[in-house]
Amino acid sequence: MLKITNLSKSFNEIIALDNVSLEINSGEFFGLLGPNGAGKTTLMNHIIGFLKSDSGEILLNNNAIKYGDKNIRYKIGYVPQEIALYQELSAYKNLKIFGSLFNLSKKELNKNIDKTLELVQLTDRKSSAVKEFSGGMKRRLNLAISILHNPEILLCDEPTVGVDPQSRNAIFEMLQELNQQGITIIYTTHYMEEAERLCNRLAIIDGGQIIASGSLMDLLNKLDSKETLKIHKTPESIELYEKLTKISTINEFDFKYELIPNKDFQKYSQLYKYFEEIGLPSDLIEISRASLEDVFLHLTGRRIRD
Ligand SMILES: Nc1ncnc2c1ncn2[C@@H]1O[C@H](COP(=O)(O)OP(=O)(O)OP(=O)(O)O)[C@@H](O)[C@H]1O
Ligand SMILES: [Mg+2]
Repeated sequence: MLKITNLSKSFNEIIALDNVSLEINSGEFFGLLGPNGAGKTTLMNHIIGFLKSDSGEILLNNNAIKYGDKNIRYKIGYVPQEIALYQELSAYKNLKIFGSLFNLSKKELNKNIDKTLELVQLTDRKSSAVKEFSGGMKRRLNLAISILHNPEILLCDEPTVGVDPQSRNAIFEMLQELNQQGITIIYTTHYMEEAERLCNRLAIIDGGQIIASGSLMDLLNKLDSKETLKIHKTPESIELYEKLTKISTINEFDFKYELIPNKDFQKYSQLYKYFEEIGLPSDLIEISRASLEDVFLHLTGRRIRD
C-alpha cells in the first residue's frame, strides 16, 4: 500500500532521514518506534506531502506522493504530534470547520461527525469549548478530525503523549476498532509497551535510519536470549559487581544491572550456582521476558528514554 524507498532528508547539517526504506501493507497496524529526534515526524511529513525529500520516493498504491500535492490528504488521515484545534470553539464546531476542508456533502459530513464523536466518546461534550477539555479529550478530538473524511490510511504521531491512562486506553481501543474496520494505521511512539501492544509490525528508527523492522517476534529474534537477567542494585549487589563481571557483560541502569552471561554461563543452573558461591541473595535476581526495550538496547547500546 505504502512503499518508501531510499528516502533521505537533511536540515542543513542535520540528517533527519537517512536512506529510509519501508513497506507498509494494507490493513496493517504499523509502528514506528524511535527516541526523540529519530526522524519519525519528518517521515510522516513526507508521507503527507508536507516536506520535500532530498532523494528517494514514496508510493501510495503505486502512485508517487509529490511534495505539496493537496489531494494526498483525501486519502490519508493525519493526527499531528502538536494538537491543532480552535480553543474557543466547541468540539462540534471544530469538526465542522476541519471537515469542510474535504469534499464531503453536508449530509455526509454531519453523519461522519456524529459517527466519529461516538467513536471518540465525546458526543456528550460536543457543545463544550475545546479550552475546557482535558489533554486526553483534545487528543481524542484531534483523532476524530483526522478520520472525518474516511481515509484509507491513518498516520498518528505520538497520539498519547501527555494523556492520562484512561484516555490513553480509550485511544488504543479507538485505533484498534478503526484498524479492524480496515483502515491501515501508522503509529509513531517512543513508548515500547504501546508498540508491543498495538502493532502487528514495526520498525525501529534511530538517527534517521531504520535499524530493524518486522513483527515483534522478528525483532525479539535479534536477541541471543528471549529472557533478560537483571540484578537489583543494593549495597550487597554493588559490592559483588566485580565478581558479576567475571561471568557476564553488565549494562548498568538506575536501579538494576542487566547481565548478559558469557558463553560458559548460559544455563540458569550454572548461573545460580555461581550466584550462590559469591553470596548474591536470590531475591535480588529477576528474570523477565525480553522486550522491545532490550532489542533497542541490543541494537544501539542505548535505552529509549521517556
Ligand atoms: N524544520 C526543521 N528544521 C531543522 N531541523 C529539523 C526540522 N524538523 C526536524 N528537524 C531535525 O530533524 C531531526 C528529526 O526530527 P523529528 O521531529 O523528525 O524527530 P522525531 O522522531 O519526531 O522526534 P520526537 O519524538 O521528539 O517528536 C531532529 O534532529 C530535528 O531537530
Ligand atoms: Mg516527532
